[in-house]
Amino acid sequence: MNNPSDKKDAQDLNTYEGIAEFYDELMTKGYYNYDEISRALHEIMSPKTQLMELGVGTGLVAELLLEHNSDYSITGIDNTEKMMSQAKERLGNRINYELQDITKLDLENKFEAAFSVGGCWYFIDNGKDHDLELCSHIDDLEASKEGLRRVVDHLESGGVLALALQAAHTNYSKKLDEELTYSQEIFKEGEIFTKRYLFTKPSGVVAEQFYRYLVLPSETAHSFFDELGCDPVGLNPTRHFFVYKKR
Ligand SMILES: C[S@@+](CC[C@H](N)C(=O)[O-])C[C@H]1O[C@@H](n2cnc3c(N)ncnc32)[C@H](O)[C@@H]1O
Repeated sequence: MNNPSDKKDAQDLNTYEGIAEFYDELMTKGYYNYDEISRALHEIMSPKTQLMELGVGTGLVAELLLEHNSDYSITGIDNTEKMMSQAKERLGNRINYELQDITKLDLENKFEAAFSVGGCWYFIDNGKDHDLELCSHIDDLEASKEGLRRVVDHLESGGVLALALQAAHTNYSKKLDEELTYSQEIFKEGEIFTKRYLFTKPSGVVAEQFYRYLVLPSETAHSFFDELGCDPVGLNPTRHFFVYKKR
């Protein structure tokens, strides 16, 4: 396929609606190591308990975090209804749900900490000798900054923001079971890249989604966070998260 933008009119861009049904199948077969991630996150969050998850998805991280400490009060934010309904099935009333676009985040209470694992924002880890890059699920720069501003507004002073690291995106294809194959393709256009998520069975395509991401150098991210009143704390010891703290 040459130009993924051809597809933009054919389906909603920048939502997980198109692939929500197959999301867990992909994620729990090695896409992320949720056990390691949740352990590292628990160490960062403790002893704070009032938490916001930015892009809770189907609740995979929240579920494991609650196994580390059932006293966590987690508010899961997401704007994809089909993802959140799976989180509700998984977790029932063990967390709170807010079906909101993070760029318009508006909640009554403040939180001690916020985190995102492949959610609204995360860092791309290009290896130990290279700088990180901030990757945003919000492809418009001003909207992404507005989302960050709103997240920081919802943090208490001294509050922590932890954004997970993940490897750079590549093109690949992988069998998930006898029938189901997952493939992804990356189309780069400067600081934007479009990712095509594709699930196929022998009968043909069963799910597809295009998502446009914005990528920024970590220095740019740090200066946004500085403007918002947050200092970089740095990488956690296991290199799963980059942490900021609100002044
Ligand atoms: C890759 S999933 C990560 C889900 C979960 N954290 C996990 O580890 O499985 C990204 C999630 O971020 C949500 N998301 C993306 N942009 C968003 C926005 N502007 N507002 C709220 N949620 C958003 C998507 O709907 C999706 O559920």
